[in-house]
Amino acid sequence: ESLFVGVDLGGTAIKVGLCNADGELLRTYEGPTQAADGADAVLSNIAAYVKELVPPGTPEWNALAGVGIGIAGFLDIPAGVINFSPNLPFKNVPVKAIMEEKIGKPVKINNDANVAALGEAWGGAGKGIPHCVCYTLGTGVGGGIILHNRLIEGFSGMAGELGHMSIVPDLEAIQCGCGKMGCLETVSSGTGIIRMANDAVARGDKTSLAMIEEEITAKDVFDAAKSGDEVSQRIVTRAAFYLGKSMAAVAVVVNPQRFIVGGGVSKAGEFLFEQIREVFHKLTPGNAREGVEIVAAELGNNAGVVGAAGLFLRA
Ligand code: BGC
Ligand code: NA
Ligand code: ZN
Repeated sequence: ESLFVGVDLGGTAIKVGLCNADGELLRTYEGPTQAADGADAVLSNIAAYVKELVPPGTPEWNALAGVGIGIAGFLDIPAGVINFSPNLPFKNVPVKAIMEEKIGKPVKINNDANVAALGEAWGGAGKGIPHCVCYTLGTGVGGGIILHNRLIEGFSGMAGELGHMSIVPDLEAIQCGCGKMGCLETVSSGTGIIRMANDAVARGDKTSLAMIEEEITAKDVFDAAKSGDEVSQRIVTRAAFYLGKSMAAVAVVVNPQRFIVGGGVSKAGEFLFEQIREVFHKLTPGNAREGVEIVAAELGNNAGVVGAAGLFLRA
């Protein structure tokens, strides 16, 4: 029986997982990304972790038929090249070729959020739903669009780059890691939420966030908002508003049945989801709204590895 490895390449950690031909996750291994050391170090880490997971020479290694990798950034998917990443040190790196050389097995790459969407569609919150759109809220904001049970990649692999939907009005817009102004990612990612919190504290706004001695996290902002801190509530409301508004735009473009929201920030739970739903309902017309659900991702941290392994299984 053939085996497959999925790789979830994140800004801080790389997770690798071994799957059987039914897409079942057998085991995982995790290590640091070490992004600051550059693309080459990161790719060497991936190869090392894959070989930790499946030691070369073993029967499992011999059965290993392919390695799928989900990467945050703008990819030439068929060529296997990452052209640019707002949050990783990759510029025009031929990841597929380099990794095939390092590992000696066939490699496929795709966008991290696309791969998470595939994982959710096969075994998570999108199971049995042919039209769904996934958002991942973490260091960046990622997106994955599945229509008629197929992942949509678009002309140059950019379909579903929802974090770079330009949505914040000019007067309030700031520059994104992609170089453009007013991207969703600047207000609705974990990084964006933390930035708004630090700005508020630096301005001297009256907020319980000012009492936090370590670096403020997105979870701190949600906790403060839940316990009534008005500055934190405004930050959460703003993040939720632009997410809901972006979903209203997506709804009239591709008309999904379900929006699936995952990533660290989504752990804020119903507190966040209720606000997103309210905005979505206010802004989305008729059939694009009715019966459409906004739900939490189900696979949590494993969606990426399962979806990446699935690049080989469900082509
Ligand atoms: C990148 C996406 C990625 C997302 C989540 C964004 O900044 O442009 O490709 O999916 O972050 O990692
Ligand atoms: Na994507
Ligand atoms: Zn951007």
